[in-house]
Amino acid sequence: MTIPKESILLVDDEEAIRCILSKGLEMRGYVCDEAEDGEQALAKLKVNPSDLVILDINMPGRLGSEVLPDITTRFPETAVIMASGVTDNKVIAQCIKDGAQDYINKPFRFEQVLQSVNGTLDKRRLALEIQRYFQDMGKKDGGQVESRKLFLGAIETLVNTLEGCDNYTRGHSQEVAEIAASIGTQMKLAPQEMEDLHWAALLHDVGKIAVDPDILNKPSELTSGEYRHIMTHAVIGPSLVKPFVNDSVVEIISHHHDHFDGGGLDQSIRGKAIPLGARIVAVADAYQAMTSDRPYRGALSTLDAIEEMLWYSGSQFDPIVANILINTVRQKQLQSRYNN
Ligand SMILES: [Fe+2]
Repeated sequence: MTIPKESILLVDDEEAIRCILSKGLEMRGYVCDEAEDGEQALAKLKVNPSDLVILDINMPGRLGSEVLPDITTRFPETAVIMASGVTDNKVIAQCIKDGAQDYINKPFRFEQVLQSVNGTLDKRRLALEIQRYFQDMGKKDGGQVESRKLFLGAIETLVNTLEGCDNYTRGHSQEVAEIAASIGTQMKLAPQEMEDLHWAALLHDVGKIAVDPDILNKPSELTSGEYRHIMTHAVIGPSLVKPFVNDSVVEIISHHHDHFDGGGLDQSIRGKAIPLGARIVAVADAYQAMTSDRPYRGALSTLDAIEEMLWYSGSQFDPIVANILINTVRQKQLQSRYNN
């Protein structure tokens, strides 16, 4: 007997498509249900929230992209994969922002659908496990004020464990937090802002837990699809830590890959509208990464890293923040020359 896997709701106005997907997925042990439009899907989820929804975008009545925010808000534990015959990057980007985990093109190749379903459900399982782990810890602590510290301590351990598996990123987040703190102090941030900056810097890449490690550690240049996949960590990370940190920390993590000039991937805000903490983490993150070895290149010298930082100052990086870091690095260089 096959042990039932997770439940999947197939939402598409074309019965033939629902039927083909349902048969194929049920043969792989998934439990499938069908809905012909968004309203029917929401009604079915209310009675029995599925683990995953495959949601067609172009349907009569409300578009799938319009129904998506209702699903992710009302059923936060349900993962969603969008499906459409029309590839409109803006619509896809908005769907990812609204909480969809993946996107598949029509006409389907069943293997492609299966790969997306398996990958999305793997990530969902992992995310839920982490959330439950932290929730259990909170209960043990009696839900007191101390529990937040306990949660954050546990997340810190988790980050260290994740980075510990990879020689290249070991200690990355801790160093980013130290660089960010130095910039924050020079910018005279308030104590609460400094604390938020510390946690956001430490947790900025926690969403990479859900990124395919083969892509994350790929020793050669990434394709645009692989780059887009890695960048989902800036969407997944905030949803993982949201129950345990304040909104400022969530906002910093969400925007830590935003470019100052608005040119980042799927970016909605730019300039000073990007939280200051996110602009600081972006600079600290890039400098730490540039001056560390990576699978595909050696570490840049301090001088080259400064050059790079200057080159992207004003476009990728907030020029004021970048300037503070550059001056700090130069001062340290002078000091060490003087001491020697
Ligand atoms: Fe990142």
